[in-house]
Amino acid sequence: MNTELLDSNNSGNGRPDPQSDDVARLVGASKIFGEDDAAVTALDDVTIGFRRREFTAVMGPSGSGKSTLMYCQSGLDRLTSGHAYIGDVDVSTLTDQELSVLRRSKLGFIFQSFHLVPALSAKENITLPVDLDSGAEVDEEFLAELTDVLGIANRMENRPSQLSGGQRQRVAVARAMIPRPDVIFADEPTGALDSKTSGELLTYLRQAVDELGQTIVMVTHDAVAASHCDRVIYVQDGRLVGEALHPTVDDVLDKIRELS
Ligand SMILES: Nc1ncnc2c1ncn2[C@@H]1O[C@H](COP(=O)(O)OP(=O)(O)OP(=O)(O)O)[C@@H](O)[C@H]1O
Ligand SMILES: [Mg+2]
Repeated sequence: MNTELLDSNNSGNGRPDPQSDDVARLVGASKIFGEDDAAVTALDDVTIGFRRREFTAVMGPSGSGKSTLMYCQSGLDRLTSGHAYIGDVDVSTLTDQELSVLRRSKLGFIFQSFHLVPALSAKENITLPVDLDSGAEVDEEFLAELTDVLGIANRMENRPSQLSGGQRQRVAVARAMIPRPDVIFADEPTGALDSKTSGELLTYLRQAVDELGQTIVMVTHDAVAASHCDRVIYVQDGRLVGEALHPTVDDVLDKIRELS
């Protein structure tokens, strides 16, 4: 398998430009944290697109810029220079308020530390993004289908503290999916899970892509998780240094060894 589809200098040589119908894309995206001697370049002139109905893994060493890429792409953080598009909207042109409306209506998020609201029931946590979106209504049929597939239908009245780690994670997945977002961004969603629960979650995410047409961008350290994806991209020192389609566990392990 060719894992060298990208030119390592990421100058646009040797890889196609992102397409304008990509559901999300970064163009010449850079992010610098801090100033002067304390400045850290977390993203360095990254150009990449994410296609509809595609499940992409973002991999690379700790501190390489994976989370920064995801946060800037999704408008949770702002680029220092370059552009981050969701559909044809350049998120850098939006006010904070417009950004939060876009995030709520078009994007779903899954984090390693679930970010559930302790005082709300599982059901209230799941429907929160829809409840916050004035004018939107919860699709009860879709909610029932989601919670059934995720195996949490009988835990809807429980608070997060009354659920296991895996159940909390599945509540977070349902919450990300319920508004039928254009893209789900997941930052190490399996990081806190045992291998069985992690496998179940990945199977479900895969199903969401194949059966519901969901687009997913997932940061992960786990080669097995990446092997569930259609594509893996590799980040090192804030730059894109590789890309492969249909990665196998062995391909991913080889590439990780090469980068470390
Ligand atoms: N808020 C911040 N202030 C200053 N530096 C930051 C900030 N956030 C991230 N960085 C730095 O930017 C670089 C990229 O960080 P990022 O969190 O994107 O890495 P990562 O690839 O997600 O790492 P990990 O696998 O450990 O989660 C690192 O050097 C990090 O220290
Ligand atoms: Mg990270």
